[in-house]
Amino acid sequence: MAREWVNAVVAYLDVAATTRVDPRVAEVVLHWMTEDFGNAGSRTHEYGARAKKAVQEARMFLASTVGAKTEEVIFTSGATESNNIALLGMAPYGEKTGRKHIVTSAIEHKAVIEPLLHLQEARGFEIDFLEPGTSGRISREAVLEKVRPDTLLVSLMHVNNETGVIQPVAELAQELRQTSTFLHVDAAQGYGKVPQDLKAPIDLISISGHKVGAPKGVGALVTRRRGWNKAPLEPIMFGGGQERKLRPGTLPVALIMGLYEAAKIFQENRSRWEHDAMQTRERLLAALGKTRFQINGDADHSVPHILNVTFDGLNAEALIVRIKDQVAVATGSACTSASYTPSHVLTAMGLPEEVAANGLRFSWFPSQVADFDPEDLAETIAHMQPDAS
Ligand SMILES: Cc1ncc(COP(=O)(O)O)c(C=O)c1O
Repeated sequence: MAREWVNAVVAYLDVAATTRVDPRVAEVVLHWMTEDFGNAGSRTHEYGARAKKAVQEARMFLASTVGAKTEEVIFTSGATESNNIALLGMAPYGEKTGRKHIVTSAIEHKAVIEPLLHLQEARGFEIDFLEPGTSGRISREAVLEKVRPDTLLVSLMHVNNETGVIQPVAELAQELRQTSTFLHVDAAQGYGKVPQDLKAPIDLISISGHKVGAPKGVGALVTRRRGWNKAPLEPIMFGGGQERKLRPGTLPVALIMGLYEAAKIFQENRSRWEHDAMQTRERLLAALGKTRFQINGDADHSVPHILNVTFDGLNAEALIVRIKDQVAVATGSACTSASYTPSHVLTAMGLPEEVAANGLRFSWFPSQVADFDPEDLAETIAHMQPDAS
């Protein structure tokens, strides 16, 4: 189907919202939908056996990318579901043991904030939402200061989806392993991109496929053991008992194989990807030198492919409309971009309302923006800006 709705020259700089499925991944998905289409739970024939074997292979690979054991990975529909299983699934243990305190940050994605607010409002948990300051980075010390004997869980994201700032999850994992507090990390934006962090002893890791070139609707939850002890998770849904009784439902074999292929491609090309993403960033920043802007968040602790900026005197929504024929970008998280409220992330960073309400997020995969000319874009923006005087 031709893309009639989009002008071919519109550069896609919104990979933090979602990525294009890699054509090699699409080929694999198609194969597992139309040729090897068996149910991984069917025990009576070869169709089922092939599907089950393939899923196990995918599971083994995914586990290896985060230094976990094969059986510690369960497949889900994406990071939202993984976050819900992790957070709501730990709650009964907290209730039974009287540990109803959770530490998190105010810059988490809604897929963490909302389940935690549910625990606070409906089940009497006490949640500390830490604010990071203008760097956008939550300090390890600030988290540890809040941890107390009744702290069940710390939930901290890996890479912030609006600013690209990397959080100190690896250091925290080492510290929290010495305590009885569990660590959950929403790694939707960091998985594949900053892989070394996720090899730290994090108890629960949420992964999303569609941020690394896999289709939407697939992800994983890593539930790492502490020695022989499994994380005391209870299911939040009930059904056929698939995925270690933590996530029922027929496995979407084709999507899982897509996630596997995408993760493999990302791993094989990561160094190059990082180098090229950084070059694109430098190109973009050099061009934006024509304009007056501020970078939101600590650029020294950021992934190379996400940049959040506010242009002096410009309304982000008006700007997006003006540049939409040149570039597809976003104001913060896609889930809230339908509303005009200032970004909760930029607000929690303590930025003035004017700045927080007008942050613009550029995010890119370098191979897909080779033709993008940031000079043209910068020219348009500079013309829109009122005189500084
Ligand atoms: C940090 C973060 N967490 C969770 C999600 C939700 O992931 P999914 O779409 O796989 O449910 C996203 C996606 O926007 C995200 O950026």
